Amino acid sequence: MSDLKDKHGTTGHSWDGIEELNTPLPRWWLWTFYACIVWGVIYTILYPAWPLVNQATAGILGHSTRAEVAAEIEAVNQSNAAITEKLAMTDLTAIPADADLNSYALNAGAAVFKTWCAQCHGSGAAGAKGYPNLLDDDWLWGGDIETIHETITVGIRQQADADGDYLRQSEMPAFGRDDLLENGDIDAVVNYVMSLSGDPMDASLVAHGETVFADNCASCHAEDGTGDRAQGAPNLADAIWLYGGDFDSIRETVWNARYGQMPGWSDRLTEAQIRAVATYVHQLGGGE
Ligand code: HEC
Ligand code: HEC
Repeated sequence: MSDLKDKHGTTGHSWDGIEELNTPLPRWWLWTFYACIVWGVIYTILYPAWPLVNQATAGILGHSTRAEVAAEIEAVNQSNAAITEKLAMTDLTAIPADADLNSYALNAGAAVFKTWCAQCHGSGAAGAKGYPNLLDDDWLWGGDIETIHETITVGIRQQADADGDYLRQSEMPAFGRDDLLENGDIDAVVNYVMSLSGDPMDASLVAHGETVFADNCASCHAEDGTGDRAQGAPNLADAIWLYGGDFDSIRETVWNARYGQMPGWSDRLTEAQIRAVATYVHQLGGGE
């Protein structure tokens, strides 16, 4: 101890007789420390570093991870250009017959679905209340590839398209809210609708409901309640419900109507992406 004290001296601090030695930092440590400072200064000159108000200093090398990602995306787009062009040109119904094109469409379509569709239709496309299941054979607007493609392109209950056409429009009246039907008629027609899916209901209410249905509902849902795809009016006789099939849910549908909406995708997705996701949805199992 006293050897070291003789060699380096003390800092002059002393607590209860315990003195602090003035041991210098090892040389190698000190030089590494200076080297780090020099390296740090050079780095901040070369690369983006200091945060400013809107963005960081750019650095004289012009390095940008964002530009790197853009270049990588561009390279992938380039390498897929031929097949996406082919996808955009091929007749929709001919896609499945071309194995390469079909597998590209399914993969690309699955990616589009995860990004743009899953938040409403579910990651497995099984849907949720108000958002149709795309796996089953029950279609509001139609399940062949061309109809699916059209639905995705224009959306449902959206503004007119560029040509001023109102596509995929239809509006079920709010029979209760707008006083179109009496309470008793509504209860009766709900009984009738439930009986169509085989629920045992009160026979006299069902009989009364049948006439209410013929007068007020059949124009959209068809005489036998099996629906009309031209108007997106669902089949009410298949025990598959978009908004719930218990008495209260159906009554709520008839009272207030629902007006489900989906955005159109022609502004956000390329034609090839729309075709890819249409192919994907069509081949999920319910496609016609
Ligand atoms: C904001 C929610 C939302 C998003 C996002 C969405 N959808 Fe929909 N989609 C709906 C609703 C709601 C309906 C049913 C509308 C109705 O009542 O007719 C629907 C209906 C459909 C139908 C018609 C089903 C039938 O039975 O005829 C298809 C096909 C479809 N969506 C595909 C897609 C695809 C593909 C995407 C992604 C590109 C997508 N949807 C994104 C809400 C959404
Ligand atoms: C102008 C056409 C039209 C008329 C008239 C109409 N509906 Fe509808 N109905 C629809 C459409 C379109 C939907 C799809 C749901 C939506 O709007 O989001 C629907 C949905 C429903 C549903 C929901 C089905 C489900 O799967 O959850 C029920 C139930 C229903 N209608 C019953 C009736 C009854 C009962 C009447 C007569 C009192 C009636 N509708 C009259 C167009 C119509």
